[in-house]
Amino acid sequence: MNYFLIYHSSIASIISSYTWLTGRMPMPPLWSLGFQQCRWSYYPQSEVLTLAQTFRDKNIPCDVIWFDIHYMERYKVFTWDTDRFPDPKGMLTKMDQLGFKNVVIIDPGIKVEKDYPAYEDGLQKNHFIKYPDGTVYSGQVWPGWCTFTDYTSPQARIWWGDLFKEHVDEGIDGFWCDMNEFATWGQKAPNNLQFAGDGYPITHKMAHNIYGLQMARATYDGAKKLLNGRRPFVLTRAGYSGLQRYTAIWTGDNVGSDDHMLLAVRMVSALGVSGVAFAGADVSGFVTDATPELYARWMSMAAFSPFYRSHKAYGLRDSEPWSYGEDIEQIVRKYVQLRYRMLPYLYSSFYTATQTGMPVQRTLAIDYPMDEKIYYGEYENEFMSGPALLVAACRSTARAANVYLPKGNWYDFNTDKKYAGNTQFYSDAALDKLPVFVKEGSFIPMQSLIQTTVQKPTDTLVLHVYYSSIDNQFTYYEDAGDRYDYQSGGYYKRMMSIRPGSKQIILDKTEGSYASHFRHIKMILHGFDPLMNEVTVNGSSTKIAMQNIELMQQMKLPVVHLQNRNEQITIGW
Ligand code: GLC
Repeated sequence: MNYFLIYHSSIASIISSYTWLTGRMPMPPLWSLGFQQCRWSYYPQSEVLTLAQTFRDKNIPCDVIWFDIHYMERYKVFTWDTDRFPDPKGMLTKMDQLGFKNVVIIDPGIKVEKDYPAYEDGLQKNHFIKYPDGTVYSGQVWPGWCTFTDYTSPQARIWWGDLFKEHVDEGIDGFWCDMNEFATWGQKAPNNLQFAGDGYPITHKMAHNIYGLQMARATYDGAKKLLNGRRPFVLTRAGYSGLQRYTAIWTGDNVGSDDHMLLAVRMVSALGVSGVAFAGADVSGFVTDATPELYARWMSMAAFSPFYRSHKAYGLRDSEPWSYGEDIEQIVRKYVQLRYRMLPYLYSSFYTATQTGMPVQRTLAIDYPMDEKIYYGEYENEFMSGPALLVAACRSTARAANVYLPKGNWYDFNTDKKYAGNTQFYSDAALDKLPVFVKEGSFIPMQSLIQTTVQKPTDTLVLHVYYSSIDNQFTYYEDAGDRYDYQSGGYYKRMMSIRPGSKQIILDKTEGSYASHFRHIKMILHGFDPLMNEVTVNGSSTKIAMQNIELMQQMKLPVVHLQNRNEQITIGW
């Protein structure tokens, strides 16, 4: 056993060293930050298209529809059920026209069946797990008796990766690795199964924990090779230290209860300090129905979590944003739309994760480890979404939330009310008002509403700046949202800082060769002197006016209009 000791005086630095050791996530495709609709399972293909169209008709943004196991012919991976899906390519072209991406589930079990290409080929090439006497192991999963690929063999990984070719050619964009613990019915896979162990043969006892990770790796590498320069997206159920290099993860089959909603918050925060920035839970709970209130609360809360996907098990109630009545639909629309307006902020937070390993969803223990109150049971479900937003996750039945804000000054995201930190209070938590607070000195870049990330927002970046008594800074990041040009300088990055001592907001000179999509910046000042009617922009005095701003509710706030130039912009107040 190898031990690594990491010593630093801050948790953020420990995460940074830990992810230096285990790896950091690459930039995800922008579409994977959008809202994603899943269930076990959407079919036939006409139903999938109706579902996609309904999102557009109802102005509820959505980027991805997921295909669970019913898309396959008798659950055989790399096939389609041609009765339910007579024309996958045609359907996926229509989905593309509607601005949707599509992800299919892939389980590791390959059905034992004569003339089934994946089985015959894998058997012949010797890629399946075996008993010590050389007999190929089989266990039962959805398709019945299955063999399992040995992902600890480099050749098997390459073989597996190539199996995705048809799906990529058809227009599938992402892959969902499930049951990869690996799970089988009624039996635990025996300890003595043999694995290649990347050149150091091992038994299942040693291979077990890395199996899920290696499946995700083989899937990611295969997809990357096939996607012709586009960024792959993989979701996995099982993993191991370092999984963030290849895949996002979700927290598995949860229950439609308040307890599981709050548990999901803590699990995603815990994954975050473990180096996994791209994580989420089945929104509204998987194995049981949710009440309409729970669905609304969970959808609101998950809008602030890194991976945002609603999922429901087979045989349960409809669980789309419009399935719980009109009042709930209104609330859900508001939060999904907020998610899409916040994408520039969220994308910048993901960028930080790629650079330092700092998670997107952060336990308060990262920034306030010595504040004992954050560990109290009543506050353990609070988390930071990116550097600026503190989300006080609360039950769907609560209409007031017991909130603790750590040191510093904070603003209510819904009302702009200012709070001095180190304080406890009860916040309004009406079903349509998730308690969220903004840390002083924060920059929250937003954009106009879009229905899918395929659609371009207007060319104005809406930059919310919150007054601070102390210096603070934020790294703004933008790139094409797909492909790898960012790795050779094709990005747009700018440090933004607030310096109350010299009464300045400074947007540094930009870095990178990518031209920002945004030609204008509308800077909205929160917590500044409401009587202020001018600022200086690079030394020249500029009139500003109070404007009605629709954030979570209407507010009158001072606004500065700027050209988004690449050189430094200094605003003095
Ligand atoms: C597993 C997965 C779940 C999926 C189901 C059917 O339970 O965790 O998300 O819907 O299998 O494929």
